[in-house]
Amino acid sequence: MEEKINQIKLNLKSDLDNVNKLQDIVDLKAKYIGKSGCITELMKNMKDYSQEERKSIGQLVNNLKNEVTDLIVNKEEVINNNLLNEKLEKESIDISLPATEIVVGSPNILERVIEDFESVFMSMGYDVVDGPELEEDRFNFELLGLPKGHPARDAQDTFYVKDDELLLRSHTSPVQARTMLSKEGKEPVRIICPGKAYRRDDDDATHSHQFTQIEGLIVDKNIKLSDLKGTVSIICKKLFGDDTVTRFRPSYYQFTEPSVEMDISCFNCKGKGCNICKNTGWITIGGAGVVHYNVLKGCGYDPKIWSGFAFGFGAERCAMLKYGINDIRTFYNTDLRETKPFDRREDN
Ligand code: PHE
Repeated sequence: MEEKINQIKLNLKSDLDNVNKLQDIVDLKAKYIGKSGCITELMKNMKDYSQEERKSIGQLVNNLKNEVTDLIVNKEEVINNNLLNEKLEKESIDISLPATEIVVGSPNILERVIEDFESVFMSMGYDVVDGPELEEDRFNFELLGLPKGHPARDAQDTFYVKDDELLLRSHTSPVQARTMLSKEGKEPVRIICPGKAYRRDDDDATHSHQFTQIEGLIVDKNIKLSDLKGTVSIICKKLFGDDTVTRFRPSYYQFTEPSVEMDISCFNCKGKGCNICKNTGWITIGGAGVVHYNVLKGCGYDPKIWSGFAFGFGAERCAMLKYGINDIRTFYNTDLRETKPFDRREDN
């Protein structure tokens, strides 16, 4: 028996030397420890021995089986490792190869400024509302105190689309009238409406036939000009920095009385004078005023009970100042090569 065992060990040794693929291992398992493998055969022959012999021979055969199994399994591991290494070698990534650049977009700067306005106003309890860009003359002018033939209409050189009734809104103020009419004079209003407006006015780098306004309206009881001043001052500090000072100059709009022009101290020179503020120390960012008696009345609000203020910020103007852009057309440019420099001016 011992001889047989030694012979099996020798055979296995030379068989293992010739193994080089996984199938060889499968064959070896079958040859030695499979159902009809030579070691299994030895076990089957156990019945030919006496009770006494079976004990010691059984031990020997068992040891042999364990030893052979270990050797085959070890070899299998070696082969698997070799295969894995070969695969890794083949699939290795050349990290020195320059990668193809992925062009990533970023929000338009104008959009970012609008979002800044929205979040500041929303934190103060304002709702953000929308209005149509194709507007009726009634909302754009008449309800705002500008009847047909009124000379002040000339200041907003308007694109008429159908006769003199349908137009591209020349400002976002028609949303004031629309909102008040929708409430039928029954409840307070606190809204902002960012949106596009259109005028036949594109003769220099700071004007475009399409531009963006951020309209605001508040209607409640006992609202005064001082509330407008307080609100706008806080908002400008939040948007342009804590040291921003706000100034209100008398102005004229048909739909507000009194009306004001809103200026902020130049954030570049802090009021000393530079080329951004044209050496004045101040920058105009929009118009505002106390809602006119006739507008409230025309929109169903009793002016003896209700009062309000309205304002309109020029969004491009704010964005141009904040990001140092000197051509308004930059906002509407879709050429990534030209808009790229502004991507890096992330301020958040
Ligand atoms: N609609 C005015 C404009 O286009 C701005 C404004 C809005 C003025 C609200 C007063 C109140 O110039």
